[in-house]
Amino acid sequence: MPTTISIKRPFDGHLHLRDGDVLRAVIGETSAVFGGAIIMPNLVPPVVTKLDAESYRARIAAALPGGHRFEPCMTLYLTEMTEPDDVERAYASGLVRAVKLYPAGATTNSQSGVQSIANVMPVLERMAKIGLPLCVHGEVNSPDVDIFDRELVFVETVLDPLHRRLPELRVTMEHVTTAECVDYIRASGANLSGSITPHHLIINRNAILAGGIKPHYYCLPVPKRERHRLALRAAAVSGDPRFFLGTDSAPHTDSSKECACGCAGVFNATNALSCLAQVFEQEGALDRLEAFASIYGPAWYGVPITAEMVTLVRQSDPVSFPCEIHTAAGPIKVFDPLFPLYWVVARRP
Ligand code: NCD
Ligand code: ZN
Repeated sequence: MPTTISIKRPFDGHLHLRDGDVLRAVIGETSAVFGGAIIMPNLVPPVVTKLDAESYRARIAAALPGGHRFEPCMTLYLTEMTEPDDVERAYASGLVRAVKLYPAGATTNSQSGVQSIANVMPVLERMAKIGLPLCVHGEVNSPDVDIFDRELVFVETVLDPLHRRLPELRVTMEHVTTAECVDYIRASGANLSGSITPHHLIINRNAILAGGIKPHYYCLPVPKRERHRLALRAAAVSGDPRFFLGTDSAPHTDSSKECACGCAGVFNATNALSCLAQVFEQEGALDRLEAFASIYGPAWYGVPITAEMVTLVRQSDPVSFPCEIHTAAGPIKVFDPLFPLYWVVARRP
């Protein structure tokens, strides 16, 4: 088994950086290792227009630690008021790489999202025409649909009809969590892809609910049964370029997770690449880590693939990561994979 691997700097296909104090505290955790990321727009208020994205990008650039080279690839938060021309201008200028669809109410800060796909068809048709991908939070938000079924019902009732109606639209099913969604993407053509998080490769729903309620493992879409986790692993190591890394690193302060109505989100930026290396080693697929983490994501979004490398070393003793990072808003727990990590990023660009 190799004890050292060098891969191109990874690219995070789905990252929450937030704003202000939290942005300043978390960004270096990603930019120390990752060369770029698709930045989620679910701020309060959300990043809706080209102007919003320009100003958020400038705040991210200003928060970057000195010496870090990192490309924030911006997204626009799709609302029923979004203007097709504004979207096209944002894409043509190179600022924006995707538009994000949140079904209204489905997850953190999704209140301004979409009630009905019919109401955003003009934007989606324009995106299909110009080749701009749509990132989707693929869960329905009906109280009568069980939370563990919300991704599957989204695939059947929203994604599939949309894909049939507008097959030229390039769609990313973000943070895929079910075997059925993996199968759906596999059976579709080149215009559908899926991102996969490190934590959904590592935990199933027992991590949240067995032996006491564990709010730091609660995220959306909620982790499912073990058979789904195994299907995600198979997809991640398959070498199919339609499956790539999106960490969904989603910082929430401990006090907003450890309470009667805790927020959804796992913060994994600090150890994401070490977790992934461990997973790919467990699957006997270390030779496919680079493609999953560094090549397929940027290729899908039309982002130039970096020439810069990082080196991972397998230590004989477990690597210790900080349990939490400190922010002016309060501490934020780092994802604990519940097994020791041996891979450490030894050489950064
Ligand atoms: C994300 C967040 O906190 O912004 N939470 C999560 O559980 N994944 C939103 C999201 O991607 O659903
Ligand atoms: Zn997310």
